[in-house]
Amino acid sequence: MVLRLELHEQRLDQDTLRRCHELAMAAHPDHRLVFWQGAAPADRVAPFGRVMGHVLDAPGAELQMASRAWDTAAVRAWEAGMGGRHLLVGAVVPSPSDEVVGATVTTVASWEARVAEQHDTAVLPGHRGGGLARWMKARQTLRLHELFPRVESVTVTVNQQNAPMLAVNRAVGYRLVRERLLVETSTHRLRT
Ligand SMILES: CC(C)(COP(=O)(O)OP(=O)(O)OC[C@H]1O[C@@H](n2cnc3c(N)ncnc32)[C@H](O)[C@@H]1OP(=O)(O)O)[C@@H](O)C(=O)NCCC(=O)NCCS
Repeated sequence: MVLRLELHEQRLDQDTLRRCHELAMAAHPDHRLVFWQGAAPADRVAPFGRVMGHVLDAPGAELQMASRAWDTAAVRAWEAGMGGRHLLVGAVVPSPSDEVVGATVTTVASWEARVAEQHDTAVLPGHRGGGLARWMKARQTLRLHELFPRVESVTVTVNQQNAPMLAVNRAVGYRLVRERLLVETSTHRLRT
């Protein structure tokens, strides 16, 4: 079994920021964007966890991560495991409601860091294809730049088969840096 992974980089230059400003202006009258740093507000924890469970919908995700049923305790454990990293979460909320239908996660190692890491992004199945991920990721980029002006670029790894995620990332300025193969083989074969 082989997974083709692509490492992408988003340089936070004027071109990317202008592009993200334009995308962030998109009209989504039935939704709003909510952001938090560190631990999720109490009323967002469970719906955020439900959205993050859908990261497993990504092609090949089951090969890269354990199955995920993120209840409140699991979200809190994940947040606590960040160590000294700054955790930034952006979420799409249908208004008026306390639900979360999309979320994206970025971390920054320190206030001095020049590079940030983009992690999971997911939108609930019934809400996909309407531009919510692009809107959320564009605003998350602008917010990252405001909070961490020293950060010059963001990196992410995406499965080459994940066309929707690659399309969203291209739209917000990510460019391919290199490819990586993830190979699964039995340890029995390695011995022979
Ligand atoms: C990836 C994901 C977050 C996108 O959310 P979304 O709100 O549907 O994204 P958007 O509507 O903003 O954009 C989707 C883009 O993918 C494109 N797309 C959708 N299906 C596609 C396909 N099969 N082939 C090519 N492009 C496709 C759409 O055309 C759109 O691009 P465009 O606007 O340039 O045309 C969502 O599909 C998801 O949650 N997937 C499961 C989890 C996942 O894969 N996460 C990423 C790995 S961590």
